[in-house]
Amino acid sequence: MNQTPNSTTNPLREGLSNRSLPRPCNVVIFGASGDLTYRKLIPALYNIQADGDLPVTTHITGFARREKTDEAFREELGEALTKFSRSGRNEEVWKDFSARLHYHRSEFGDEEGYRTLAERLNKLDEEHGTAGNRLFYLSVSPSEFEGILAKLAQFGLNKTKDGSWARVIVEKPFGKNRATAHALNEMVSHVFAEQDTYRIDHYLGKETAQNIMVLRFANAIFEPLWNHQYIDHIQITAAEPMGVEARGPYYDSAGALRDMVQNHLTQILCLVAMEPPTDLSADSVRDEKLKVVRSMRLMSPEDVAKNVVRGQYASGCVGGKDVPAYRSEDRVNPESETETFVAIKVHVDNWRWAGVPFYVRVGKRLPKHGAEIAVYFKETPGVLFNAQQAGLGPNVLVIRIQPDEGISLRMQSKRPGAQLCIESVKMDFQYGTSFGKPSPEAYERLLLDAMAGDATLFARRDEVDLAWTFIDCIEDAWHKNQTPPPMTSYPAGSWGPKEADDLLAADGRAWRRL
Ligand code: BG6
Repeated sequence: MNQTPNSTTNPLREGLSNRSLPRPCNVVIFGASGDLTYRKLIPALYNIQADGDLPVTTHITGFARREKTDEAFREELGEALTKFSRSGRNEEVWKDFSARLHYHRSEFGDEEGYRTLAERLNKLDEEHGTAGNRLFYLSVSPSEFEGILAKLAQFGLNKTKDGSWARVIVEKPFGKNRATAHALNEMVSHVFAEQDTYRIDHYLGKETAQNIMVLRFANAIFEPLWNHQYIDHIQITAAEPMGVEARGPYYDSAGALRDMVQNHLTQILCLVAMEPPTDLSADSVRDEKLKVVRSMRLMSPEDVAKNVVRGQYASGCVGGKDVPAYRSEDRVNPESETETFVAIKVHVDNWRWAGVPFYVRVGKRLPKHGAEIAVYFKETPGVLFNAQQAGLGPNVLVIRIQPDEGISLRMQSKRPGAQLCIESVKMDFQYGTSFGKPSPEAYERLLLDAMAGDATLFARRDEVDLAWTFIDCIEDAWHKNQTPPPMTSYPAGSWGPKEADDLLAADGRAWRRL
């Protein structure tokens, strides 16, 4: 009898099918007064509880500098929930959830603050049976990492005993280039082992990003076509109508390339381009992604001039509202040369993808909010229907990461009637309609995974390192070259600079309109 290998027949195969359940723990958020806590982390933890997945004794402690009582902290978070929770706020769930929230005031470098934190966590362990499990979330500027990590080590908060665990989640930006990322990784590795270090990339927690592997490897019809023989090119777009909001200083020192391409878009590209992993364990998946990053062709300054377009938004109109130019945004250098848009033609130099360009673009102040992957297949030979209609157009498979999560396939069909007229039609799958309930937020999935000890959807050190190598070539061509390629400009509310269209037009292609 044929037997399909699976996790029960082969104990070496790991993965989602046998992934562990989240274990009760104390979550400590450093930088708890920050935006991320209010908009994402607490709504995510609340919704995990509302879905019945938060281990009952889990407690959450916010660590920040501002003076605040537990009650005031809870009240602020309660208000934020009504605004930012995807399921709103249910009073019964909130009552139970808010009782698990605590506030710990301290400077990040203050020893006393960590001594009392250790006492507090031990007490919570005794009272609630959290068994010494700790999940530290560093939602702070990287300049604070070293101080916080040193203090955690000094007070033994990174140590485990009797089967307990201590893990750290690190938010981006994870370095500014390869050298600083390396230094940061070294620093973290002195306090937490790699398997306890969770570098968060929230795009990997998005349902649709997780579905890329399922689409490719759980369906028989796509994988045989998923290569240079059948695919003409791939476009990956992340568009935002938002400007830099209150993040001027951070963004002005980062730019779109570091802010979005080094992490989110590279991760998405890896999921699209990787080979099937041997199993679903964190390392098997990440090994395959690593091979893709390693195959991304590094660019010389001349290549950068040809294959990369950078742009900055000028004033314009988005969603019917006049908005200022990037250089006039709050706390942005009025002479800033930071890019808010970037388009890149990426070559993945391996057997599967030889000669298939991946066009990646990301920008702020674009007309729409949306992220998608569009896979353009090669056109059929123009011998049969050309007499009726020239240029039928290719099949395009679109994976909509957000909003309107779903997958569509564009194909050609005969229009009903006596004439042979061919028209493009769309087969469309929408998460909302098919599954009838909203997808969890990325942070929900990622926090649950960190509590369960599953690092599959987090970036490994070597991936981050290699992704920076790719980005550094571009940054160096822009900033260290005698004759850097020019910064272009685009009106807010447009689809980016004309040069981005030229990039594809030079290859006889065009960007898909979202
Ligand atoms: C963040 C970037 O990582 O991702 C932001 O720092 C960006 O600049 C955001 O706006 C986009 O995330 P999402 O989930 O809204 O696409």
